[in-house]
Amino acid sequence: MLPPLDRAADGAIRLITLDNPPVNALSFAYCAKLLEELEQAHADGGVEAVVFAGANGLFSAGADVNDFNQELPEHATTIRDVIAAVEASVKVHVAAIDGNALGGALELALVCDYRVATAAAKFGLPEIRLGLLPGAGGTQRLPRLIGARAALEFMLKGSAISAQRALALGLIDEIVDADLVARAKDRARGAKRRVSERQAIIAADLPPQAGPFVVAQAHKAVPPEENGGLAAHTLIDAVQAAVELPFAFGIARESRLFGELVRSGPSQALRHLFFAERELAKIDGIDGAARDDTEIESAGVVGAGTMGSGIAIAFAQAGIPVVVVDGSDEAVDKARQTVMGMFMYQVQKGRLTREEAWKRGRSIRFTGDWAELGAADVVVEAVFENLEVKREVFRKLDAIAKPGAILASNTSTLDIDALAAETKRPERVLGLHFFVPANVMPLLEIVRGRETSPRTIAAAFKIGKLLGKKAVLSGNAFGFIGNRMIFDYVREANALAEEGVAPVRIDAAMKAFGFPMGPFAMTDLSGLDIALAVQKARGAEALGRTGVLERLVQMGRLGQKSMAGYFKYDKAVGKGREPIVDPQVEELYAQAARTAGIAPRAAGDDEIRTRLLDALAERGRKLLDEGVALRPGDIDVVYVYGYGFPPHRGGPMWYAEHGRVSSSAASEGEGRLPAHA
Ligand code: 3HC
Repeated sequence: MLPPLDRAADGAIRLITLDNPPVNALSFAYCAKLLEELEQAHADGGVEAVVFAGANGLFSAGADVNDFNQELPEHATTIRDVIAAVEASVKVHVAAIDGNALGGALELALVCDYRVATAAAKFGLPEIRLGLLPGAGGTQRLPRLIGARAALEFMLKGSAISAQRALALGLIDEIVDADLVARAKDRARGAKRRVSERQAIIAADLPPQAGPFVVAQAHKAVPPEENGGLAAHTLIDAVQAAVELPFAFGIARESRLFGELVRSGPSQALRHLFFAERELAKIDGIDGAARDDTEIESAGVVGAGTMGSGIAIAFAQAGIPVVVVDGSDEAVDKARQTVMGMFMYQVQKGRLTREEAWKRGRSIRFTGDWAELGAADVVVEAVFENLEVKREVFRKLDAIAKPGAILASNTSTLDIDALAAETKRPERVLGLHFFVPANVMPLLEIVRGRETSPRTIAAAFKIGKLLGKKAVLSGNAFGFIGNRMIFDYVREANALAEEGVAPVRIDAAMKAFGFPMGPFAMTDLSGLDIALAVQKARGAEALGRTGVLERLVQMGRLGQKSMAGYFKYDKAVGKGREPIVDPQVEELYAQAARTAGIAPRAAGDDEIRTRLLDALAERGRKLLDEGVALRPGDIDVVYVYGYGFPPHRGGPMWYAEHGRVSSSAASEGEGRLPAHA
């Protein structure tokens, strides 16, 4: 059915409402419908102007990402066709934007003569996050509208901006307080098409400062192509076309480059992660009703150490008041400083006003009195990693917490069932495994105990969402998903070192792959004593065959915190965080290998990467078989958001299956997918 015609005294305006729940995605099928409606409006002599608006509380999330994974059907209609029809029409077009206008939807708005928006509207060209570039004219129209420098900054970041910022940039014409669509119609009524103005923009050269210099600077500021920067460099190439070429040629270049990116390995990997993230909370047996069941209006934390204060900050940032219980005045003083320091840092960075920082800081209350946890909807225990200590905490908590309150442990290895057994509410007990620093790291492992109820799991996902975390469900098994896998990865790194490959080379190979640091620097950061404790807890499965780890710990080399571990550290070099090669460690490995009868052998970077990544994937497959992890995509999300696995390689499970194939296909231009938008 056609949308209603609004015949006003001064002209007829056709309102076209983008309505394709849940996010009004502009799929091929939906674009065909849209184009038909638009062409009818254009053909109807009674229609003088078209207003585009969105249903479902948003304008539109842009192109349908699912479409990029299939062969382009012959004669498919895409958002480019809709935009071309607007461009070719002599009628006035106005975009009335509420909620999100993202990707292709913002590109549709850009071709309109006017853009009006509510104050709550958000604008973004997030294609870069999917390894793509705006492929429906965005790279050509935006630089012409707001300048190449601002356009590049906006598109390379990919994050959404507010209506106020969009107005300041010149992206929209007006912010509307009252009835948005009525105001859009007012704009359209009797307005002259800005054809001449727009054609002038299209024909004009960009300002000189927008030329090669901006483009060259942009290339320097993004990562190398082979390491996550492919889409960024390609996007900059498209903007260069806007700078150098007439509009129509620029559009053709953009279209070709977009097609190349759709087929590229990095984009396929990032699109996999996009959908994997959206699958995370879809768990059999947990429905939407259970999800809304538990109110999370206040929280408690036991332990004011690094982890406890980070968790408290995470709740406070989400606007949830939190009580932190700790008997040690010293720990509380330190935690108070950490909390205020963190909020003040946010003020310095311009992310929070001073008032807001104070408010959030004050929403964390420190106390030595456990009774104050009685009102909390969820209590997270973050005390020393020791089963007996934690058991005692759960006994106490069960007696104090109100009925129905969730009791969570932040343990990284211990048995949730053993903790649940200390309570009379095992169905409300689970693991909430945060990563250091808990207020910054986006990952949260939700650990399901034997008796944890579906309602409790649903509530945990709700907590994850409130805290802005990627929450992944894990079974209750040693190390859960992430740490269980990292254990195998580190063991393989040790095996290579025992075979005579220097730790610095192993780390360099993994950094070149895209990890922020290699396995040895990572262990230095988390602490060799911690690694040794994990190894002891694991019993038979040691981290190495030769006892080098034990020896280093005996030598007091605990990692960065003691300025020596697998590497040395020097306060004068990279603030004491930069690993410095220590020949003593290499010698230790060589001696230990001789004693253990391990023959030295050479390994190239490829072999290093293959062995370490295979170790991850192999353990991942076992965790899937055992039901500890639900889906390969869940594991990939854990690794990308918790362990620095390069997102453009899709995570360990994706990489094992598609990574090598699709990256080489892309570089040889033999991708499977079609060039389309
Ligand atoms: N294509 C297909 N499906 C999409 C989608 C899109 N662009 N955006 C969201 N969805 C789906 C999600 O998969 C999810 O489906 P499900 O319910 O079956 O799991 C549903 O919509 C709701 O999404 P979220 O769970 O993410 O809902 P939120 O309210 O948290 O977030 C959002 C909404 C901000 C719109 C977020 O989904 C988002 O950022 N989407 C991606 C936007 C994007 O990247 N757009 C650019 C597309 S590429 C493009 O336009 C190319 C063009 O230049 C040619």
